[in-house]
Amino acid sequence: MLGKAQTCAIIGLDGALVEVEVDIGHGLPAFTIVGLPDSAVNEAKERVRVAIKNCGCVFPMKRITVNLAPADLRKEGPAYDLPIAVAILIASEQLAADTSDCLFLGELSLDGAVRHTHGILPMVAVAKSAGISTVFVPATDAMEAALVDEVRVFPVEHLAQLVAHLRGDRLIEPFVLTPEALLAQEAPVYAADMADVRGQEHVKRAIEVAASGAHNILMSGPPGSGKTLIARATPSILPPMAPNESLEVTQIYSVSGLLNAASDGPLVRQRPFRAPHHTTSHAGLVGGGRWPRPGEISLAHRGVLFLDELPEFGQNVLEVLRQPLEDKFVTISRAQGSVTFPANFMLVAAMNPCPCGYYSDPARECVCSPAAIARYQKRLSGPLLDRIDIHVEVPRVDYEKLAGRGETEKSSDVRARVIAARARQAERFAGTQLVSNADMGPADIRKYCELEPQAQNLLKAASQQLQLSARAYHRTLKLARTIADLAGADAISAAHVAEAIQYRPRLQT
Ligand SMILES: Nc1ncnc2c1ncn2[C@@H]1O[C@H](COP(=O)(O)OP(=O)(O)O)[C@@H](O)[C@H]1O
Ligand SMILES: [Mg+2]
Repeated sequence: MLGKAQTCAIIGLDGALVEVEVDIGHGLPAFTIVGLPDSAVNEAKERVRVAIKNCGCVFPMKRITVNLAPADLRKEGPAYDLPIAVAILIASEQLAADTSDCLFLGELSLDGAVRHTHGILPMVAVAKSAGISTVFVPATDAMEAALVDEVRVFPVEHLAQLVAHLRGDRLIEPFVLTPEALLAQEAPVYAADMADVRGQEHVKRAIEVAASGAHNILMSGPPGSGKTLIARATPSILPPMAPNESLEVTQIYSVSGLLNAASDGPLVRQRPFRAPHHTTSHAGLVGGGRWPRPGEISLAHRGVLFLDELPEFGQNVLEVLRQPLEDKFVTISRAQGSVTFPANFMLVAAMNPCPCGYYSDPARECVCSPAAIARYQKRLSGPLLDRIDIHVEVPRVDYEKLAGRGETEKSSDVRARVIAARARQAERFAGTQLVSNADMGPADIRKYCELEPQAQNLLKAASQQLQLSARAYHRTLKLARTIADLAGADAISAAHVAEAIQYRPRLQT
């Protein structure tokens, strides 16, 4: 007899339905899986065999053929264990349930327990769009599955429990996500608060502007001036995520298997902050692998990608950032086809001005040769720097400021202004795909960045004097838009443009 069960594969960030067919024939005992399985899928044989025995059923000692359809889609990972087990039990007539309206997901352990599986959210979403009404998922992942509405979610702890349910002996309670569980979230703990940073008022202003419009920022200054500290305080001034942003980020973390680490509830609700080390590989940063997985730039989607000691990152690693910085997504091509991951992040980068760190420092002499300095700064290419809207110098803080007892502004106050500026953007971009000012394309800039006449003159003069590229010109306009939003202004004035221009890098001589 033929047994069937439906399950799902993940390609990039999306799911694709897979049908498991099992035939049990006469002949010498054998167990074969066909349909482009990878080695983890092939190992399902051993797990399924033992798990079936350990849940009180009989593993048929016959010729078992498992087909995973469609046959041209490569199957990876251990999530096929549960559907294969169910299909074998149906084919061997130990189960007589109609499973045509069900989806099964989950890895089995040898004792029959069902284990956590990556990518539950996109897979259940596919089930819903295919009109499947019932999904069986690992109990630990039930909350994630329940984010998809109109689908009945059955949390399965053990294969024996599923068998009892399908036989109608002992039914599993469907999992329902209560609104409280969805909203439950501990108050976020931030690594640092802006109030911890003494002095550096202009840097704090720059990072506030950057956070308000999701602009990229590069801080440059001597060691110990507070660059890393300020970057680590950035999450504390970012606005909360809108529900649709939250869902996008949750999907990325689900596929990466990082969901539990990133949130207490089913949804990721804090904007991501990713700080990969400069030894990170190309694939680790932009994504890749045989089965393409999201890299750091996608894990930072809708949040912050912090690259500390920017010139230390390999040059070819930095150059691959150029395309996603512009397009806000990354496409990875493999022999099996290409996948696209979203990568709309705000880049926060920090660097020393030279190898010893004290170039242009008024107090300490730089010991680097001019050639060494030039070589160091050349590691960052013009096209990369051109994509960074805000360049700001972080000088050393003097003793008076460091030791001073004066009040400094707390992150919560800064955050309130950022939220207000983002609210103006949300209103402006209602009904479009755009979220923040940084997302605007040339057509949007023409539409939304209206300059007062004086501002126009100033920008014209500055473009000529600073030899702004077309990209830099557009980026300056977007930045000026954000500065005007922070000030609550509808039209962009000369003062807003002046501040935006001042953030452009100075021409190297
Ligand atoms: N502006 C500042 N206000 C308060 N503490 C500071 C400041 N700058 C540096 N520090 C102290 O020095 C330490 C090192 O700063 P860090 O941000 O790592 O420097 P950088 O990254 O610029 O080399 C911080 O952990 C903090 O204790
Ligand atoms: Mg540092």
